[in-house]
Amino acid sequence: MKPTDHLVERRARAALGGGEARIAQQHAKGKLTARERLDLLLDDGSFTELDAFVVARPNDFASKAERPLGDGVVTGFGRIDGRLVYVFAQDFTVFGGSLAEAHAGKICKVMDLAVRNGAPIIGLNDSGGARIQEGVVSLGGYAEVFLRNVLASGVVPQLSAIMGPCAGGAVYSPAITDFIAMVRDTSYMFVTGPDVVKTVTHEEVSLDELGGAGIHAGRSGVAHFACDDEASCLAMLRELVGYLPSNNLDPAPPRPTGDPVDRADPELDSIVPESPTKPYDMREVIKRVFDDGRFLEVHEAWAGNILCAFARLDGATVGIVGQQPLVLAGVLDIDASIKAARFVRFCDAFNVPIVSLVDVPGFLPGTGQEHHGIIRNGAKLLYAYAEATVPKLTVITRKAYGGAYDVMSSKHLRGDYNVAWPTAEIAVMGPEGAVNVLYRDELATAKDPAERRAQLVAEYRERFASPYIAASRGYLDDVIEPRETRARLVSALRSLAGKRSSNPPRKHGNIPL
Ligand code: HXC
Repeated sequence: MKPTDHLVERRARAALGGGEARIAQQHAKGKLTARERLDLLLDDGSFTELDAFVVARPNDFASKAERPLGDGVVTGFGRIDGRLVYVFAQDFTVFGGSLAEAHAGKICKVMDLAVRNGAPIIGLNDSGGARIQEGVVSLGGYAEVFLRNVLASGVVPQLSAIMGPCAGGAVYSPAITDFIAMVRDTSYMFVTGPDVVKTVTHEEVSLDELGGAGIHAGRSGVAHFACDDEASCLAMLRELVGYLPSNNLDPAPPRPTGDPVDRADPELDSIVPESPTKPYDMREVIKRVFDDGRFLEVHEAWAGNILCAFARLDGATVGIVGQQPLVLAGVLDIDASIKAARFVRFCDAFNVPIVSLVDVPGFLPGTGQEHHGIIRNGAKLLYAYAEATVPKLTVITRKAYGGAYDVMSSKHLRGDYNVAWPTAEIAVMGPEGAVNVLYRDELATAKDPAERRAQLVAEYRERFASPYIAASRGYLDDVIEPRETRARLVSALRSLAGKRSSNPPRKHGNIPL
């Protein structure tokens, strides 16, 4: 055999992973192999594999023949729309994709390269967890990965796709990354599986009910995206990468648009209903303001009372945080605060300007919220906005009441450009509550309490809740016609291109976690 024949033979062996039979089993489960996934994720022909010939260290359990090339994970680098990314894809056909010393070493190597070269790291997870035969060495391998996840946080974007099992302590690597996407029906994440749950709590629960994509994207908030199949998951990751900068020093890639920057949208003038209690769809506002009506929502199915999305304005990536009046009237509750706080911090870490669309009646009252800590959780969002030094643009479309006015990127938290639509109501509390407090005695003795209340409410709106009071103090930079929102935001964003702002030197702040 010539030396090149050896190479060809070894490469072919490495490419087969756990062999044809196991590949067939993987396909029968509706899953792709690690290499097929990388083919879909990366630009055609751009993948350069590293460490294909790495094998597990000899140990008591595996003879030489049982140490497959690559040790159950395919690693390397490639391109998405021409931009460099580092990748690892666990290969379930080899020891169930389980992580051991060599496997972890390969992942750590590409993570180190990603940080050193300033490119995102994308992990495709499909693994039975720590390789049982390697014992504590596997646990050590996981910890090495976790450490790198933490050190890379805020330096390069970290994206995780869950495409099979992800159980036990293994979940904590994706959990530290910036975004998690799961595939419906074939992926699941949990700290302890259904059998252990049954033993400890006597609950009977299926894999899917315990930790499937629907649960994590809709209930726990662990997953940011739930995708119908692997191909759409990988396509979504490509789209997401397109919005993101490669690292914390480079700008996000601009995408020139034919959408005129001064495009006026007269429909916006009547989008807020006359009745202050009638909802409208904030997604419609987003579609009408941002480039080409396009945006990518994060956590779409969780805490729907607040929307977080990436979009573009004048070709530049922005992060949008906006109340959704259609869900719980856009109130801030624990989940909404946590969702938006993490998104704001991601944007700030990666220099993505934040546009806030505010229509918030306040924080959600009640024992449920108070006893679960709306105080410390709401504080997360306040902290995140206050700490953020990226350009912050705020449009109050309707309500901005109470503490929620302060929290939602107000001027007082270093908002750069704060405007309101003429429909805005800004005050310490909503008119009904305020009238009850201020005029309790008068209403108790009024001849026609309902009529008097209506009068007082109207007066309150006029005197205390109009946007011109905030504008007269400079808390709002302007009151604008809704139709000109796009043009105003673009011009403000352009003015902030050279923004310089920083926080006092310190080791790190202490966000109320
Ligand atoms: C070694 C493993 C393995 C593991 C699976 N395999 N998990 N080998 N270590 N952790 C092997 C199986 O023995 C089998 O090999 C092959 O992979 C495919 O697995 P199957 O069980 O046939 O597949 P499936 O029926 O799809 O079930 C998948 C599974 C199950 C649900 C993931 O394999 C399973 O429960 N594995 C153990 C999960 C686990 O408890 N992991 C430890 C979690 S704790 P053969 O040769 O028989 O086909 C953890 C700690 C992390 O990870 C610590 C971080 C701090």
